Amino acid sequence: MRVFVTGASGWIGSAVVDELLAGGHEVVGLARSDASAAALATKGVDVRRGDLDDLDGIQAAVAHAEAVVHLANKHDWSNPAASNAAERAAVRTIGDALVGTGRPFLLASGVAALAQGRPATEDDASPFHGPDSPRGGSENLALEYVDRGVHTVSVRFAPTVHGTADHGFIAALAGIAREKGVAGYPGDGTNRWAAVHRSDAVRLVALGLSKAPAASRLHAVAEEGVPTREIAEAIGRAFDLPVASIDPNDVQRHFGWIGGFFGMDLSATSAATQGLLGWTPTGPTLVEDLDAGAYGGR
Ligand SMILES: NC(=O)c1ccc[n+]([C@@H]2O[C@H](COP(=O)([O-])OP(=O)(O)OC[C@H]3O[C@@H](n4cnc5c(N)ncnc54)[C@H](OP(=O)(O)O)[C@@H]3O)[C@@H](O)[C@H]2O)c1
Repeated sequence: MRVFVTGASGWIGSAVVDELLAGGHEVVGLARSDASAAALATKGVDVRRGDLDDLDGIQAAVAHAEAVVHLANKHDWSNPAASNAAERAAVRTIGDALVGTGRPFLLASGVAALAQGRPATEDDASPFHGPDSPRGGSENLALEYVDRGVHTVSVRFAPTVHGTADHGFIAALAGIAREKGVAGYPGDGTNRWAAVHRSDAVRLVALGLSKAPAASRLHAVAEEGVPTREIAEAIGRAFDLPVASIDPNDVQRHFGWIGGFFGMDLSATSAATQGLLGWTPTGPTLVEDLDAGAYGGR
């Protein structure tokens, strides 16, 4: 298939591109900078220059694709409303361009706020609707296109898609620990984060693209929930730092923008996804990655 990938130069996207190329697909990758364009071209990707806000360009790229994988996100943590608005506009543009085609449209989502007091499952619908909600309510918006002839598949990534060279949440937590001289965890550290190794996550994206039924919500989750205290302990071991509880009232000040996430329980299962697609995660666990130096340290 000729697959248009947004976020093709990102942490997940760059590995998805490799997986799709290895699977014999033709990839068109969105790139907003010379560096990203060059990295994609070197791999044999057909580069589509443009920004997420260039909706005409996205529409044109989608019109020439047989499938779309949407992984770009501005991730402007100082202005989440702008990221959410861009995400919603991009998803609407992609959906509109695919109406009536039956073509696969796989988009990234997350596992936050799906369930209270238990791990989230694929059956839990996203509570986020409308432009003012997290991620601009993009999962529900994309799923609305199923009734209009779009083969939408949402891949909900665990809050950490980990591995060597990850620059996401765990790298940010490690950076804060080094800066503050302490690997902190919120409160008693029993709130949990689901986790998945990048290699497993990208295999799921490729499988989902070719095999998941329309309206599927897939969970890219290998570990149901790693207690935040264990994450902090592994960061402490990696960088030889003391480990300490951070008072729940102080979490936002201590951790900054990531405090809201690190203070949440973001556990999720992937039993239904594994059963549906025969996907079995095999990569290292988050703590194994941290202990092996995937985030630096010893
Ligand atoms: N990584 C995780 O643990 C995780 C967990 C849950 C959900 N997700 C979601 O999964 C998706 C992929 O995440 P990721 O970790 O791969 O993110 P990432 O490494 O930050 O990559 C973001 C991608 O979006 C592109 N991008 C950013 N702003 C853009 C703009 N204005 N115009 C065009 N492209 C733009 C980036 O291009 P440049 O290379 O040019 O910067 C990059 O290719 C995102 O939707 C993310 O929210 C990720």
